[in-house]
Amino acid sequence: MSIKTVGIIGAGAMGNGIAQVCAVAGLNAIMQDINDAALGKAMKTIGGSLERLVRKGTLTEAQTAEVLARIKTTTNPDDLAVSDIVIEAATENEALKLKLLQGIDAILPPSTIIASNTSSISITKLAAATSRPDKFIGMHFFNPVPVMALVEIITGLRTSEATADTVAELARTLGKTPIGVKNSAGFVVNRILCPMINEAVFTLQEGLATAEEIDAGMKLGCNHPIGPLALCDLVGLDVQLAVMHVLYQTFNDPKYRPAPLLQEMVDAGMLGRKSGQGFYKYG
Ligand code: CAA
Repeated sequence: MSIKTVGIIGAGAMGNGIAQVCAVAGLNAIMQDINDAALGKAMKTIGGSLERLVRKGTLTEAQTAEVLARIKTTTNPDDLAVSDIVIEAATENEALKLKLLQGIDAILPPSTIIASNTSSISITKLAAATSRPDKFIGMHFFNPVPVMALVEIITGLRTSEATADTVAELARTLGKTPIGVKNSAGFVVNRILCPMINEAVFTLQEGLATAEEIDAGMKLGCNHPIGPLALCDLVGLDVQLAVMHVLYQTFNDPKYRPAPLLQEMVDAGMLGRKSGQGFYKYG
């Protein structure tokens, strides 16, 4: 099946990044969110990200206009009905995702694939909220989407091979490298990455070193591009906390307990870059 139009639910960091890479690859993108302010902010982010590509010489001004013309925005989920695939990229909250998926399932023709960009929630469980578990799959992008080369393709218990093949091909069309992963909390990358970030928060909470020193340690000692606390700010402390909750609840293993400081910072509204303050301050 060839994919020409991609519907995206959610215009946050992941949703707008997905819309951008689809449009850059020549596909039509329809991005849906609950209000025009969120959509306006998303288009501004995409504009800024495309400007970087123009400055680097990978895109011309004329191509930028074409890319932007391929992205439509809407507050009406019915407008996603023309999509060949819909990728759900809403907040990492199971109840919310189940509700949105039930709603979109009722709107889309039976042949349309539905993918979730969830960071950790069971694909099998999300699929069960729809009438098409064979056409439901995890398509997990990484932040920032235009830069990160990986997409995890997560098959739930009832996902068909044809769906997995189509979505892996879509990832390649977007210039990404897909890896196939069996359904399990956190999949592969977040199962490894998020406990590492959580441990960094514990080292901060225990006063072993400053945030800057912890991050310098992992950058200089392990060649990570940014330190774990700066990465947590990029991903969002709320997302990191949500993933740790899913890992802890699913595996029932204390090694996944969220660091209390992480919980406290989320309670205080310190969500990282998106709120202007996390482990660091942002202008
Ligand atoms: N759009 C387009 N290009 C972008 C961009 C964006 N939003 N953000 C950065 N770039 C490009 C820059 O133009 C630059 O390109 P060149 O090297 O070709 O000039 C390059 O990326 C590096 O950017 P910067 O120089 O501005 O900054 P940096 O060197 O600090 O790199 C970074 C930024 C790429 C984000 C780097 O810090 C990095 O790789 N960090 C780790 C990111 C990571 O691990 N992400 C995964 C998070 S986990 C996740 O997302 C899963 C989940 O479910 C929680």
